Amino acid sequence: MGSPQTWMVTGGAGFIGSNFVLRQVALGTRIVNLDALTYAGNLANLAALGDDSRHVFARGNINDRGLVAQLLETHRPTVVVHFAAESHVDRSLVDASSFLHTNVVGSFALLDEVARYWRQLPPELAASFRFVHVSTDEVYGSLGPTDPPFNETTAYAPNSPYAASKAASDHFVRSYFRTWGLPAITTHCSNNYGPFQFPEKLIPLMILNAIERKPLPVYGDGCNIRDWLYVEDHCAAIDLVARRGRVGEVYDIGGAAELANIDVVESICQLVDDIAPDGGPARKGLITYVSDRPGHDRRYAIDHTKLRSELGWQPAQNFASGLRRTVQWYFDNAAWTHTVRSGEYRRWLDTNYTQRPAGSP
Ligand code: NAD
Ligand code: DAU
Repeated sequence: MGSPQTWMVTGGAGFIGSNFVLRQVALGTRIVNLDALTYAGNLANLAALGDDSRHVFARGNINDRGLVAQLLETHRPTVVVHFAAESHVDRSLVDASSFLHTNVVGSFALLDEVARYWRQLPPELAASFRFVHVSTDEVYGSLGPTDPPFNETTAYAPNSPYAASKAASDHFVRSYFRTWGLPAITTHCSNNYGPFQFPEKLIPLMILNAIERKPLPVYGDGCNIRDWLYVEDHCAAIDLVARRGRVGEVYDIGGAAELANIDVVESICQLVDDIAPDGGPARKGLITYVSDRPGHDRRYAIDHTKLRSELGWQPAQNFASGLRRTVQWYFDNAAWTHTVRSGEYRRWLDTNYTQRPAGSP
């Protein structure tokens, strides 16, 4: 048996990145994980790995070119998967500067160092090397109610500072493929949910608030639509893309699970009521309409035909099974939840919700 492949992952202590690292190590890949451990990064997500020598963690910033170059030279990865980002739209509305710093400047620094490393690989290794850039469906903007879903040819129309910063990084990745031939692939995924998601995003926030019988703040009329994908299905898609995707291509990843936010929140209420009946009134009664997110995209939907037909991917979970697993996970992992709801988290709740006027459906 040959020695395991080494892949480098950025942002592997965040939500999707940690799910990916856990999966890949279990499959036998050696992972070098570069993460700055911002408020969204958490080594507790990787606790199950213990001191497994197949996981090498490096705390550091993707903007630190010296560190990136040193990790590449020392560990000689055959694949780099780039997750690290500022990822929360609402935070990008309060202050977008960290989004520029990490998502644009940091992604560029990483890309440039990866290209430098790739250029000096022997021809066979250079040909099989892959840089996978994990982007988002938000770069495509917002769909009308009868528009067809986004696909790989949809024009860019980012609406939030977060989406604009991701779009900028996508263009640099494209340019490095077109200009230098760097074997890069970009993915655009829809909304993920599942274990280890930081509870500032819709699904974990609502689960924890519902468990604790706190108000469930729904923006606007609650009818904005998102396409939901269980995180492990996203990780499986990225693995496939890294191993078998065509270089220079773009792959869209989605769950074919378009749902209005209010329906998602009501499903969470029902699940929490079922799992933890406490004799109190139905949790649905906790739903509170609050003022809308500025520039709130109305609808996202993804056509993942290319990924399915070229690489044979399909999600293993549907929304009902994935949501049940997720709600159960938050019930079963109260200690994890306790550690992530730090002072920083409480400050964010104050910033985003305390001053928010009431809204209406
Ligand atoms: P996350 O916010 O949970 O995690 C981001 C991770 O990146 C954290 O561990 C953080 O410490 C790290 N990080 C941030 N800035 C860094 C820097 N400058 N240098 C090194 N590390 C840094 O994000 P997520 O939800 O797991 O998303 C991961 C990627 O997937 C992002 O690129 C995001 O745009 C993309 N994406 C997310 C979703 C989703 O629904 N969450 C959907 C599609 C695409
Ligand atoms: O589509 C992919 C994107 O999905 C990723 O690129 C982002 O990183 C990820 O955060 C997510 O972005 P959204 O803005 O769609 O996710 P969020 O969980 O913040 O919000 C989902 C929907 O729920 C959105 O319509 C806003 C609404 N919402 C959110 C929060 C936090 C509420 O109604 N109330 C809330 O308190």
